[in-house]
Amino acid sequence: MHQTDILLIGGGGREHALARALCRSHRVGRVHVAPGNGGTDGDLEGRVCNVPLAADDLDGLLAFARSRAIGLTVVGPEAPLVAGIVDRWAAAGLRCFGPSAAAAQLEGSKAFAKAFMQRHGIPTARSGTFTAVEPALAWIDAAPFPVVVKASGLAAGKGVILPETRGAAEAAVRSMIEGGAFGDAGAEVIVEERLVGEEVSLMALCDGRVALSLPPARDHKRALDGDMGLNTGGMGAFAPTPALSGAALDAIERDVMQKTVDGMAAEGVPYRGVLYAGLMLTADGPRVLEFNCRFGDPETQVVLPLIDSDVLDAIEACIDGALIDTRLTVSKDAAATVVLASGGYPQTYVRGMTIDGIPGADALDGATVYHAGTRRVDDGWQTSGGRVLAVTGRGADLKQALQRAYAGVGRIRFEGAHHRTDIGRVGLMAGSTA
Ligand code: AMP
Ligand code: GLY
Repeated sequence: MHQTDILLIGGGGREHALARALCRSHRVGRVHVAPGNGGTDGDLEGRVCNVPLAADDLDGLLAFARSRAIGLTVVGPEAPLVAGIVDRWAAAGLRCFGPSAAAAQLEGSKAFAKAFMQRHGIPTARSGTFTAVEPALAWIDAAPFPVVVKASGLAAGKGVILPETRGAAEAAVRSMIEGGAFGDAGAEVIVEERLVGEEVSLMALCDGRVALSLPPARDHKRALDGDMGLNTGGMGAFAPTPALSGAALDAIERDVMQKTVDGMAAEGVPYRGVLYAGLMLTADGPRVLEFNCRFGDPETQVVLPLIDSDVLDAIEACIDGALIDTRLTVSKDAAATVVLASGGYPQTYVRGMTIDGIPGADALDGATVYHAGTRRVDDGWQTSGGRVLAVTGRGADLKQALQRAYAGVGRIRFEGAHHRTDIGRVGLMAGSTA
């Protein structure tokens, strides 16, 4: 059988989970991960290996893809997509999974996304877009408090401020427009109403015409139990979430995901790749908080383990516009992942701590350790980032998935390690009253 060698760009837990999912396909040969992490470095008996190229080194990555006859490039993080990697690969006759630069604006410019949603009647928070301070402050004065202030461009997950007073909202606007916080990304700001409700992450595979949803997930963004502490890249997740199923899920697939793909096609910018909608389920119905143009992290670590179909087939169907003929086989199991972070994360933290217990955790029934901020040393691993590992448990229901994830977490030790102890609790409570 002809096997496809893959270049996978990125180095987080998402990419380790993607590498493992791709390797379940017999049609996948080697997976080269750039730059990868301590888990992708020689994983699966060397079928997965690292390439010392940064995710934004498009010249180096293109030269690598050409010289190694890479059949498919899969992109984890948003920056290369917004920078136009898919367009460059297409011009070079290479296949790359993701949206073009024009389509990636759904994540790269919140101003673009907001205007797009307004044009197409896609439900989202009421908002204004501003490049000058005074009109933004006038909007805030006229709006019911509280509001949210967002930098329009890419800000590595830090560009959203939830101010508790009007004074703090003004300061946030000024810091972005006048103070240069977030650089060019903050030169344009979105001010919007603050929504209340349960958050859900829904990802769909898209081929320019069809949006095919993956199981809905719930992310836990705050650093500490009880949703206290600072916002992080994500401290854990579970899927499927009982908050979104049945008719409510069907409605979002139709009124958000498919409508977005239809709208982009109608505007001459077909959307291919993963469309990620961050949604708030409010008393007045679902609202889009943001679009991302890529797989979520840590949502990928709970969603991909539930896909029993060949992931390479599905990705190729997206590129070839053949998703209409694709059916995904989704397991009836549940998955939960718990992130182990370095002491101090998401603020400053030290690297280079020795990690013990990974093989023991991985060997537990239903547990998988996905690496993020790790690097290989001699016969083990050291920490090298803020989010160090994500331990995913898979089980017959959320309760068992969580038990298996936390059993794995309990085996792993490094100095300063911290994790949330309440991942999935909201899902268990919803399940028990359903
Ligand atoms: P975003 O990157 O736009 O998804 O924002 C990051 C986080 O800020 C979201 O996951 C929400 O928790 C929160 N957030 C964003 N927009 C709103 C909003 N309009 N109302 C309430 N919370 C929000
Ligand atoms: N987990 C949120 C994100 O990937 O943006």
